[in-house]
Amino acid sequence: MQPIQSLPPTFRWGVSTAAYQIEGAADIDGRGPSIWDTFSRVPGAVANGDTGDVACDHYRLWREDIALMRQLGVSDYRFSISWPRVLPTGKGTTNKAGLAFYDRLVDGLLEAGIRPYATLYHWDLPQALQDAGGWPERATAEHFGDYAAVVAEALGDRVQDWATLNEPLCSAWLGYLEGVLAPGLRDLTAAVRSSYHLLLGHGLAAQALRSHAAIKPNVGLVFNMTPCEPATDEDRDAARRADGHNNRWWLDPVHGRGFPADMREVYGVALPERPGDTETIAAPLDHIGLNYYFRQIIQDAPDLPAPSYRVVPVPEAPTTAMGWEVHPDGLEQLLMRLHHEYAPASILVTENGSAYQDEVGADGSVHDPDRVAYLERHLEAAASAVQRGAPLHGYYAWSLMDNFEWAHGYDRRFGLIRVDYKTQRRTIKASGHRYAQLIADHRTATGFPV
Ligand code: FCB
Repeated sequence: MQPIQSLPPTFRWGVSTAAYQIEGAADIDGRGPSIWDTFSRVPGAVANGDTGDVACDHYRLWREDIALMRQLGVSDYRFSISWPRVLPTGKGTTNKAGLAFYDRLVDGLLEAGIRPYATLYHWDLPQALQDAGGWPERATAEHFGDYAAVVAEALGDRVQDWATLNEPLCSAWLGYLEGVLAPGLRDLTAAVRSSYHLLLGHGLAAQALRSHAAIKPNVGLVFNMTPCEPATDEDRDAARRADGHNNRWWLDPVHGRGFPADMREVYGVALPERPGDTETIAAPLDHIGLNYYFRQIIQDAPDLPAPSYRVVPVPEAPTTAMGWEVHPDGLEQLLMRLHHEYAPASILVTENGSAYQDEVGADGSVHDPDRVAYLERHLEAAASAVQRGAPLHGYYAWSLMDNFEWAHGYDRRFGLIRVDYKTQRRTIKASGHRYAQLIADHRTATGFPV
């Protein structure tokens, strides 16, 4: 593994969050409900019945959170914009008060010398659009393009780095097929149609960003990729299907290769294709965002519906509190694969991080050696990929602070900063201090002007 100091001097050091996971202020300043407000109220959908109503109260405490970012010494902050805050029913009249929050946030970041990276969609579809059918409907993709134009008009004079979607795989497969994320449906046809319209929406949003942002936008799409390895020789076809389901189905169309023929057959669902869509979906990308958490070991499962495989645990493997295997090599492998198979101009690791059961010391400090090791090992893997030629230009740790971890509620803590949800007190964990030190050391070693 390469030392972290070998990363180039201009390497971007960031932290990531998402609107619903941190903002709270669910009813403030005219925000409309999203599918997560609804889903988190479904009995049994989220651990402990937790919701994002208050979360980290970042909507009120954002100044303090920027000050914490400065303490970490990060150069970049990746956050997401809440669509229902900007357009309470997903379309129509802009809610100026909601948009103004992001205006203040962006100005605050720039004043602090932190580069804003905005994600337009991190899973919080306006509920009104779900009521009208949600992502299985083409209109949702079109409304997403219009929303992108509104945001680009407002913030595109100061924000340069954008992601259209965060992990469309999760929206389609976990939201509409497995039902574990909002809106909680289990319907293959709806899921496949959603996948199509998410990517169409991405293409429309990319166009909108390019035509409405005052400064030339750096447009990306954030994929969560996972290496899919067969459990035995007999599971090779299943592993290929799993790779199709998780990786190729998303990357191929965006790179002008269309939706993979083998997977079309596996799903057996007609895509709602219209002339011109292929080109819209393949809008040029300025960068790829890669979120990496784990690999999957795949076993054939003809007893299960398409794509008919199951994920089996790796015996004796170290895992996080999510039960996810700690496998830093997977990050290097995916970076090399993207480089060789898709040749992106630029890659950013837009998320990577770990949940552990943190313990708070008597003095309030959080000693989290597992998270420190996770961070170091994944950064070394990233540095190795850079050494081998991958055009990786930045790393954003997930997450700035503990937050609402979707179906796990507040039970899983990914933060470099601890949040005490009763008092909203923030405490930088040992991993946060370590990250700050790594950033500072890297700057000193490479002579990057601070
Ligand atoms: C990713 C999500 C992010 C967070 C991490 C742990 O899939 O993008 O919001 O929940 O997982």
